[in-house]
Amino acid sequence: MVKEKACVFISGVGSNLKSIIYNSRESNFPINVSLVLSNNNKAQGINHARKFAIPFKILDGNIDKFENNALKEISDRNIKLICLAGFMRILSKNFIRRFKGKIINIHPSLLPRYKGLNTFKRALKNKDKFTGCTVHYVDEKLDNGRIIIKKRVNINNDDNESDLKKRVQLEERIVYSMAIRKIFKK
Ligand code: GAR
Repeated sequence: MVKEKACVFISGVGSNLKSIIYNSRESNFPINVSLVLSNNNKAQGINHARKFAIPFKILDGNIDKFENNALKEISDRNIKLICLAGFMRILSKNFIRRFKGKIINIHPSLLPRYKGLNTFKRALKNKDKFTGCTVHYVDEKLDNGRIIIKKRVNINNDDNESDLKKRVQLEERIVYSMAIRKIFKK
C-alpha cells in the first residue's frame, strides 16, 4: 500500500505524535509521518521524531515566520495531511486557506463545548458528568471545523484536573489515528 505523507505540528510533550508514529508503522495505516515541525525548541515531542529518524524542524519566532518556513518545508515534500497535535499557536486564515481540508486538530473536549484553553478546568467547574476529545478539520475559526470523530470520557466525582487530563489523553492517543484512518477510509 502506498502511504500518503503527513506532517505533524507540535508545541509540547508529543504524546499524540508518538501514537501517530506508532500506528503509522502498521502496513495498512494510510499515512507516514514524513515531517515534524515544532514552534518550540523545548518541545519534548521532538525526541519522538529523533528516535524514529523522522525529519524535524524547530521553527521558532512569531506565527508569520513559522508559517513561511513551514510552507517551504511542506511544499518540498508532497504532504497530503497536516496534523496539529498539541500545537498551541493559532494558524493564520491564509495558511488555513492554503491547505483547505488538509489540516486536522485534536482538541481536549467534546466540541463544540469548551473551545479554547482550560477545557478540563471548565468541565469540572460546571460539574459536567462527562467530557472527552474531538478530532476535527481546521477551518478559519478556532476549534470550529467539521468533526471527524469524538470520544466521550466520564468524569468521576473525585476527579481533579490532572486525573481528567490523563484519562482524556489516553483516549486521544487512540482516536487521533482512528480519525486518520477514517479520512483515508482505511
Ligand atoms: C492534548 O491534550 C491536545 O488535545 C491539546 O494539547 C495536548 C497535547 O498533548 N491540544 C489543545 O489544547 C489544542 N487547543 P501532546 O503534546 O502530549 O500530544
